Amino acid sequence: MRTPVIAGNWKLFKTIAESVALINELKPLVANNHGVEIVVAPVFTALSPVCAAIQGSNIRLAAQNCFWEEEGAFTGEVAPKLLKDAGCSHVIIGHSERRQYFGETDLSVNKKTKAAIAARLTAIVCVGETLAERESEQTFSVIEKQVQAGLAGLAVDDFAKVVIAYEPVWAIGTGKTASDAQAQEVHLFIRNLIAGLFNQSIAGAVRILYGGSVKPDNVKGLMAQPDIDGALVGGASLKAESFAAIATFNV
Ligand code: 13P
Repeated sequence: MRTPVIAGNWKLFKTIAESVALINELKPLVANNHGVEIVVAPVFTALSPVCAAIQGSNIRLAAQNCFWEEEGAFTGEVAPKLLKDAGCSHVIIGHSERRQYFGETDLSVNKKTKAAIAARLTAIVCVGETLAERESEQTFSVIEKQVQAGLAGLAVDDFAKVVIAYEPVWAIGTGKTASDAQAQEVHLFIRNLIAGLFNQSIAGAVRILYGGSVKPDNVKGLMAQPDIDGALVGGASLKAESFAAIATFNV
């Protein structure tokens, strides 16, 4: 009942030409897989060319960040409606790299999420604990705070435009994936949290993605978990072959 989402976060990689070349390689490899929502998130400068390249395909476009204001004297920022204008259907919000290097907070995540939804973008809201937090047994309290504050004030209807991504920081780019059981445990915790904060029907419908060293050889085990509804993929999304293998985990 929850359509899986496989999203590739290209981070700060690839020129426009490289981005378009990757799409052209990817398209035929995933063309027949209509059971999965396949999303790619290139850098801002490649959004429009990638939008042109995905026309007529089953690949959808995400940005990696947005601002919360629609317009104004905010040098260097990009508004959700401009992402929509460039062809995006999705936007990643609150990635741990933004929290770590660019001062993203639960409050800015909340403002950005609301602005993205208002612009009719699907917000992929990222949460996740650091290694120190996991080792000091704070995983659940950290996730609870990030989910509660990040999604505070959302209306029930807004959840049609929300996807949550659980990305343990210690698993990102390290080759160290959370075990299927470790990931499932946190996904279930998030779903129960949403049930308590909002309601059971939203909790049952919201997609919760796992991110952190997802590869072709571990995606099936993760996707077999009852509360894992997809993947947010970094490194393995930069090559057509590995991303296609992940995006076709179900065939
Ligand atoms: P890796 O798949 O490279 O670990 O990155 C995960 C990630 O941060 C996706 O947003």
